[in-house]
Amino acid sequence: MTKAKLWRCKICGDPYIGTNPPNRCPFCGAYERFIVEAKDFDSTFDVELTQKDKANAEHALQVEISNAQFYFCAAQKTDDEEGKQLFKALGKVEAEHAAIWRKILKLGKEAVPRSDECSIHNNDNLKESHEREEKAIEFYKKAAAESDHQRLREIFGALVLVELDHLGLSEERM
Ligand SMILES: [Fe+2]
Ligand SMILES: [Fe+2]
Ligand SMILES: [Zn+2]
Repeated sequence: MTKAKLWRCKICGDPYIGTNPPNRCPFCGAYERFIVEAKDFDSTFDVELTQKDKANAEHALQVEISNAQFYFCAAQKTDDEEGKQLFKALGKVEAEHAAIWRKILKLGKEAVPRSDECSIHNNDNLKESHEREEKAIEFYKKAAAESDHQRLREIFGALVLVELDHLGLSEERM
């Protein structure tokens, strides 16, 4: 039996126990290349923000809160069992993304408020998911390009890839 190790995600900072690094962070969805052994973790969320970076981090937080709200709603209301599970998984990831931006903005923890703004029809929810993910990707790409801060570019860039995963999940079901 291979011994379990403690890993940490450089993007959300959360710890994971396993024999190998997960190929996606189970919390924020970051790719395997961002998972390091906890003893080697040296990433920071204490970043000095320019005005532009701060505005982008604030926008990112609003986008992630809104997307998490939509997905948690769809996880309850959508008329398809697999759809419910997909939206539940997506809601958790987007809530973790919101938590990353709260850390960067030094805002302290806060749960995502619930909303009932989603459809009962799975196809409508998949379509809305697709639109939301496209917007998130476009925004994170722009934010990464606009930042001179290496750590922020790393986070914005890692999240582009995560949202691309999400786009693919709705795309193959539409
Ligand atoms: Fe996200
Ligand atoms: Fe997403
Ligand atoms: Zn993570």
